[in-house]
Amino acid sequence: MQRRKEIDEMYMARCLDLASMGRGYTYPNPLVGSVIIYRDSIIGEGYHREFGKPHSEVNAIEMVKDKSVLGESTMYVNLEPCCHSGKTPPCTDLIIRSGIRNIVIGSVDPNPSVSGSGIRQLENSGCNVTTGVLEQEGKNLNRSFFTYFEKKRPYIILKWAESADGYLDRIRTEDAPIGPNWITGELEKTLVHIWRAHEQAVMVGGGTVIIDNPRLTVRHWTGRQPLRISISREANFPGGTNLLDNQYKTLIYTEKILPASEALEYVQLDYNKDTIVQVLKDLYSREINSLIVEGGKKLLESFLNSGIWDEARVFKGDREFLTGIKAPTINSSPVNRIFLFQSELKIYRNWNHKR
Ligand SMILES: NC(=O)c1ccc[n+]([C@@H]2O[C@H](COP(=O)([O-])OP(=O)(O)OC[C@H]3O[C@@H](n4cnc5c(N)ncnc54)[C@H](OP(=O)(O)O)[C@@H]3O)[C@@H](O)[C@H]2O)c1
Repeated sequence: MQRRKEIDEMYMARCLDLASMGRGYTYPNPLVGSVIIYRDSIIGEGYHREFGKPHSEVNAIEMVKDKSVLGESTMYVNLEPCCHSGKTPPCTDLIIRSGIRNIVIGSVDPNPSVSGSGIRQLENSGCNVTTGVLEQEGKNLNRSFFTYFEKKRPYIILKWAESADGYLDRIRTEDAPIGPNWITGELEKTLVHIWRAHEQAVMVGGGTVIIDNPRLTVRHWTGRQPLRISISREANFPGGTNLLDNQYKTLIYTEKILPASEALEYVQLDYNKDTIVQVLKDLYSREINSLIVEGGKKLLESFLNSGIWDEARVFKGDREFLTGIKAPTINSSPVNRIFLFQSELKIYRNWNHKR
């Protein structure tokens, strides 16, 4: 029994490794990997590489050279196979047709259009289905996908850099140029671009748009460009504002709708109600399942004060500013601390919050 558990976990761990190779390319779909085992050997494996492209189960079955052994093989997959037609046909039909009779699943799909129906379909056609293998690890890998369906909002990552003495920025004077005062170095910059490439949307407050004029693009890494987002009641941004460059899809939440352009859309908020809740509701309706919030102070504190956030990634730089804009504070201990060249990266989690 113990040996069976170890074997199941070993092959499921391979599924999770494969699944993670699709990171940043599959959203709003989840990260899924599959392996097919015949007589203790992997004879096929695959992962969901990109949104709209074949699912992992299809790729794994395709890789098997001798399809006649599938009837005596076991398929491992970290998420319940789909049973509905989306961009691709249902995987349950393919598995049943292939003859595979043993299926080991990591977690049940939280999407209400699957949510146990895929498992039922497999069982009704005579398959033996085992579930719950490395379930927590699978949910962790797909935390954006699970948060989207369970909390009806994107998974929220707060990110900022603070000086060694806890400032987000120096005090800006009239003659100081527009643009960021860098706290960290090239390594941290690259890391942030990798994170952008992994998430579906990236957001900054209107103050940061004016003072730092960020592009919020993936320039130091390869990957998909996330949706760019800002929020400002008047959205009265100066000429030359990078977010208005029409290069990539951008949303600005405002009080009054302004004329849209090719890639730029203004979305109206009711300023008599909670603005953050409205933003998250709108992002849910757009099927955005992850959001990285890159500042500034007011926007980060809105999320922290509401308690609606999932993870914070905070770089503490090695130089002091002595005065400036105080960085937000988090009243819990980091779950991880990583020492980089010019900073310490602290990771916080807020996974037990209900909203
Ligand atoms: N070190 C870092 O990691 C980092 C990162 C980003 C920024 N910064 C620094 O942070 C400073 C800017 O801070 P900040 O507090 O002024 O900027 P911010 O949070 O970027 O922008 C504040 C503005 O955004 C809008 N906003 C923010 N939260 C909102 C909410 N909950 N509801 C509605 N509107 C909201 C409001 O715009 P309106 O007033 O127009 O309605 C608000 O005045 C700059 O000095 C910048 O360099 C540092």
